[in-house]
Amino acid sequence: MRGSRIMLVAGARPNFMKVAPVLHALKDAGAQVILVHTGQHYDYAMSGTFFDDLGLPAPDHYLDVGSGSHAVQTARVMESFEPVLLATKPDWVLVAGDVNSTLACALVAAKLRETTGSRIAHIEAGLRSRDWRMPEEVNRVLTDRLSDLLLLPSRDAETNLLAEGITADRIAFAGNVMIDTLLSQLPMAKALDMPARYDVGRGGYVVVTLHRPSNVDDASSLENILEALAEIAEERTVIFPVHPRTAKNAGQFGLDDLVRRLRTTEPLGYREMLGLVEGAAAVLTDSGGLQEETTVLGVPCVTLREQTERPITLSEGTNRLAPWPLTAAGIVTSFREAVSPRTAGRPAPDGWDGHAADRIVAALRARNVNLRARAELPEPALQV
Ligand code: UD1
Repeated sequence: MRGSRIMLVAGARPNFMKVAPVLHALKDAGAQVILVHTGQHYDYAMSGTFFDDLGLPAPDHYLDVGSGSHAVQTARVMESFEPVLLATKPDWVLVAGDVNSTLACALVAAKLRETTGSRIAHIEAGLRSRDWRMPEEVNRVLTDRLSDLLLLPSRDAETNLLAEGITADRIAFAGNVMIDTLLSQLPMAKALDMPARYDVGRGGYVVVTLHRPSNVDDASSLENILEALAEIAEERTVIFPVHPRTAKNAGQFGLDDLVRRLRTTEPLGYREMLGLVEGAAAVLTDSGGLQEETTVLGVPCVTLREQTERPITLSEGTNRLAPWPLTAAGIVTSFREAVSPRTAGRPAPDGWDGHAADRIVAALRARNVNLRARAELPEPALQV
């Protein structure tokens, strides 16, 4: 009997650290892995450096879709992915997270289910912001609806899926694959001594990331946030790796004077960013992944959004939401509260332990995926 063929799809920056540990665990387990990179993110800073840092092999299929409106980007991924799926007919297609590539590939695979026999698994299923204005929320809900196997990053995600009528037999608890990557990369990230590169001491600086369209595509909201950051920069160094969307908009809106008061850099590689965040006094961000990473690192996080699809980082982690609607004063106050005497370290949420990818392999095995037995490792317990 031939071994199972598993396709892994990655498209944009937040996908790469989720896909890497799963790829390594599947290969260790003897699966034939097909890696597809849609090319949604294509710059070296947004993509290539992550492949290097995470030991990802060159993709078997690179779809080169590039940027575009949501419709254009999603459609291009679908058009380019369909022939690849038809030619390879994997047993499973694994998609991760909530970016346009995630939904596009899940949709193609769902429509071809009868032809290819491929089943779909969603890594990081069940997260909900309940804000339909977020493109990622649309991607999350629809990808979950299309998937045969929903792999939960945290326990609270199950309630969301059951409430939407998804049956328990399609759900498996995996834990957080991104934390697998974080824990395995942390020693190398620390060895870079990133604070020294910026000439700051540990705890003497804050790290900022901003890219959500709701924050950076509107001139007054971007101005509010930058004003807050400029005020914070009078007390501590603000290190700001600038996402291409944000850089473009700040220029167009005439906000470059505010940006110049911060220590800006190009987007950083995975390890560099991790090394910087690990030593920070706090992080201010609108990213999803950083809310989770700061929780595990015990670094206070101020999230610049109205709500979060990762509420476990509020209840069990170091995250807080800045008061909404965002104002410069509200952000500064929230930051000051966050850095006031550090809350004692809490244990990380269940399953954020470095073994999520092993539980994904176990969940696939439990669904008749034919993998070579791993003699040297005990079978990880599958928690459903
Ligand atoms: C995408 C994801 C978002 C994720 C974010 C992380 C969706 C709906 N959004 O948003 O969930 O948090 O990535 O970065 O999938 N650009 C470059 N180089 C690149 C990629 C993009 O310059 O390698 C530019 C594009 O030209 C565009 C802008 O960055 O102007 C935004 O890129 P896009 O992929 O459309 O969305 P993100 O905002 O990155």
